[in-house]
Amino acid sequence: MSETQKILVTSALPYANGPIHLGHLVEYIQTDIWVRFQKMRGHTCHYVCADDAHGTPIMLRARQEGIEPQQLIDRINGEHRADFAEFLIGFDNYYSTHSDENRELASGIYQKLKAAGHIAVRTVRQLYDPQAEMFLPDRFIKGECPKCGTADQYGDNCEACGATYSPTELKNPRSAVSGATPIEKDSEQYFFKLADFQKFLEQWLDAGHTQSEIANKQKEWFADGLQDWDISRNAPYWGFEIPDAPGKYFYVWLDAPIGYMASFKNLCSKSGLNFDEYWNADSKTRLVHFIGKDIARFHTLFWPAVLHGAGYRTPSSVYCHGFLTVNGQKMSKSRGTFIMARTYLDYLKPEYLRYYYAAKLSGGVDDIDLNLEDFQMRVNADLVGKVVNIASRCAGFIHKNFGGKLSSTLPEPLLYEDFSKVTEAIASLYEGREYSKAIKEIMALADRANQYIDEHKPWSIIKEAGQEKTGQDICSQGINMFRALVIYLKPVLPELAANAEEFLNAGELNWHSVSQPLLDKTINPFKPLMTRIEKEQVDKMIEDSRQTMAGAPATPSAAKSSAEPVAAMIDYEDFAKVDLRIAKIIKAAHVEGADKLLQLTLDIGGEQRNVFAGIKSAYKPEDLEGRLTVMVANLKPRKMKFGMSEGMVLAAGPGGKDLWILNPDDGAQPGMKVK
Ligand code: MSP
Ligand code: ZN
Repeated sequence: MSETQKILVTSALPYANGPIHLGHLVEYIQTDIWVRFQKMRGHTCHYVCADDAHGTPIMLRARQEGIEPQQLIDRINGEHRADFAEFLIGFDNYYSTHSDENRELASGIYQKLKAAGHIAVRTVRQLYDPQAEMFLPDRFIKGECPKCGTADQYGDNCEACGATYSPTELKNPRSAVSGATPIEKDSEQYFFKLADFQKFLEQWLDAGHTQSEIANKQKEWFADGLQDWDISRNAPYWGFEIPDAPGKYFYVWLDAPIGYMASFKNLCSKSGLNFDEYWNADSKTRLVHFIGKDIARFHTLFWPAVLHGAGYRTPSSVYCHGFLTVNGQKMSKSRGTFIMARTYLDYLKPEYLRYYYAAKLSGGVDDIDLNLEDFQMRVNADLVGKVVNIASRCAGFIHKNFGGKLSSTLPEPLLYEDFSKVTEAIASLYEGREYSKAIKEIMALADRANQYIDEHKPWSIIKEAGQEKTGQDICSQGINMFRALVIYLKPVLPELAANAEEFLNAGELNWHSVSQPLLDKTINPFKPLMTRIEKEQVDKMIEDSRQTMAGAPATPSAAKSSAEPVAAMIDYEDFAKVDLRIAKIIKAAHVEGADKLLQLTLDIGGEQRNVFAGIKSAYKPEDLEGRLTVMVANLKPRKMKFGMSEGMVLAAGPGGKDLWILNPDDGAQPGMKVK
């Protein structure tokens, strides 16, 4: 075996504005398997992660909830930790980018880059929301595509025609924060001069630190020369203020990867590890990042350049994975396939998913599909039907007839050798993240073990006079083959492995345990190690996801005594075009000079709308704030005398004082679709 390595491993830091879902888990499971494998091999391996706690979306989310960003990120941090723990993700440290360590490291790195001349300051013109008094990130500006004119497109690209553009090019732009029309405003910004590192990056990308398809993609950026990277944002911003630049904050993507260092630094202070040994430019340790392909540019251009420019070591490996699809399609809220970690845990065991992802993952960047039917079938067939079955078929006889004692020799040492001699082959598959190939090898061995038991039928041999010893030998052979499988599966199934270790009664299994079979030892009684997945569990999970993610079932029944005659019939297709959403009224105000209207600020889950509603006769503004209602969310914005109205709230009643806005159940969440 190769000599002992020191490895620092990270997974990308999940944003602190939402829960962990099954898509995220592809990455954390992939990384965790790799880390557990390295540890089993005897390497020194530290796995750190953190919440990515800064940025505009988090600031706005906290505002919507009426809490401080700190409160929001603390709450989410607790949720993330709990989700990861249940999925058996064994972080050595889980931290937050909003930490003292990160503030210090980010400032220090910035100052080093500045001292070395890699920071430029320039005035830039950006869109500004005069009502919310803030500069708007591209994601918070909507308008008509400058190329094809499609309405309601984000500030950076058009979903209809695929055009990319700058937000100032949008036609009829409006702020998603307040609904106001943005104005253009100048301000000073701080840039990281990425082009200073072109040579270095070309070499770095050619040196095999990341998959070749990722490296080639990044190299396309070199064609037109590398652009400066804007690393600053204007106040109000939730993040770290830039030293010597009051009112300017580090862009979240500057301090996010530094959060890897900060989490490790925090671990060092708790465990006595040496930070410099892992981060100095001449470090002999391995630094390995696992990320999704969507954030490759940050990790394979900006990040190595920032580290290099500030005098630190650069990553040994940036391993990218693809995206999760469910049943062959993008995760979908309305289909119930946008599944939160928490929802999954309510119905299914974490190791099922760990195994299924392992059975699908490769070292490449292809997307991976969670086919729910296949998921159930595969887990049941492989884990319950093959692996666990070996132990349950042999353990009973050993206990009933031999007091739990295994034979002192194996009847078929060569067969056992077939199991032990592939150890390096399987190890190199794990090392190369070719988990699906590793699982294939392991399951082929499981088939052989079952075949052996089928052929030798311990259950009938044991009944033959004078054949007890043969029966014990066969079962000992079976249990040793089971043990080898458990060793190979331990990175994927840590809980099953722990229970199997308890059953085998011979301490912790590591990668080298396979070379010595377990002989002449007394094992513990067998307890079932895994139960089957029932279709019902999967169905319930999907239904639950559909309901929590896509909104409660149809709400109010149509008023029977409508005074007005029913209008012309419309087709279902016409009705289906109406996008009804649960909206939370976060602000309600009188409109000067309007005797029927109230101005409502509605939250539809991460987006705010400004709506003028003719309900003043029935409601006082203060009675509306905080309430939920239903709005038409895709009504074209209409310019009214008092401003832009971006939708309509639904109300019913004869009018005057007797007018009621729709009141969805308390369980409804802003943004849910109403069906
Ligand atoms: N906060 C940034 C990462 C900063 S790292 C210094 C971020 N956060 S994220 O929450 O959006 O995503 C975290 C990780 O999960 C990313 O690597 C991302 O690629 C991965 N995934 C998120 N959704 C995913 C799928 N649907 N499928 C597979 N991986 C996905 O990006
Ligand atoms: Zn377009």
